[in-house]
Amino acid sequence: MNIYIKNTKEIKKMRISGNLASNVMNMISKYVIPGTTTEQLDNICHDYIVYEQNAIPGCLGYHGFPKSTCISVNNTVCHGIPRKDQILKNGDIVNIDVAVIKNKYYSDTSKMFIVGETNTLSKQLCHAAKKSLYITFKKIKPGIPVNIIGNTIQNYIDSTPFSIVKEYCGHGIGKNFHEKPYILHYKNQDTTILFKKGMIFTIEPIINAGTCEVFCMNDNWTICTKDDQLSAQYEHTVLVTKNGCEILTKRTQEKIHKKYINI
Ligand code: MF3
Ligand code: CO
Ligand code: CO
Repeated sequence: MNIYIKNTKEIKKMRISGNLASNVMNMISKYVIPGTTTEQLDNICHDYIVYEQNAIPGCLGYHGFPKSTCISVNNTVCHGIPRKDQILKNGDIVNIDVAVIKNKYYSDTSKMFIVGETNTLSKQLCHAAKKSLYITFKKIKPGIPVNIIGNTIQNYIDSTPFSIVKEYCGHGIGKNFHEKPYILHYKNQDTTILFKKGMIFTIEPIINAGTCEVFCMNDNWTICTKDDQLSAQYEHTVLVTKNGCEILTKRTQEKIHKKYINI
C-alpha cells in the first residue's frame, strides 16, 4: 500500500505549511493585472516564500522545473513556466500553482485569477473548475473509497458544456511533493483505496472549455489544450479527519469551511 498516514506532529507541520501556501495566494492577487509578466509574478512569489516565510518554493528544481511557481494562462492546462515575454492582458485567465516546503513538509494549492475583466465563458469555466473542487469536500470521510472524488467531479462536469483533463491527478503529499494515494478527477471503479484519518492529499481538477485533449510543448513542461480553448484549475491540500476533512490550504476570505463534518 505505502500510503503515509500522518501523525499529530506531522499534521501540525502540514497545517503550518498549508497556511503559508494559502498566504502566497492572497499576497500575489493584487499583482495579477494587465502589463505584469508571469516572470514578475513568479519572482514576487519566490521572494515572499524565501524571505518573508523562511520557506522553500516546492516547484523550484522539482524534476528540473526552472521556476518557483507554475503559471498557466488561458489555453495552458498546467505546468506553465513563468516567462519575461509573457505579459498579462485584460481578459486573461491565469492559474497560479504554489507549493511551499516548511519544516520539510510540502503543501500545494492553486487558483484562477481573472486579469481585469473577462467574458462570460471564461467566468463560467473558472466557476465550474472551482465548484468541481468544492463539492468534493462534503464527500470525504474515513472508510469511503477515494473514487468518490472522481465520481462526484464527473457527475457535475457532465452537467456542463466542459470536459475533464484525464492526464493529471490529485496526490498524497507530505515529506514528498507527490506520493500515494493518487486521486483521479473522473469517474472510475477503483474502490480499493479508502479514506483514512490522517491521510493528506491534494484535489486539483483541470477543466477545459472544449476538448479534454492536451499536448506537451517543446519545453517539455508546458501543457496546452489541443483545440487552443481555455483551461481552468483549482487545487487544495486536504486532511482526512475522524469525521470528515480539513482544508489545509484554505485562504482567509475563501467562501468554504475550514472543516467539514460529513458523518
Ligand atoms: N504543483 C503541481 C501539482 O499540483 C506540480 C508542479 S510540478 C513542477 O502537483 F515541477 F512543475 F513544479
Ligand atoms: Co498538486
Ligand atoms: Co499544485
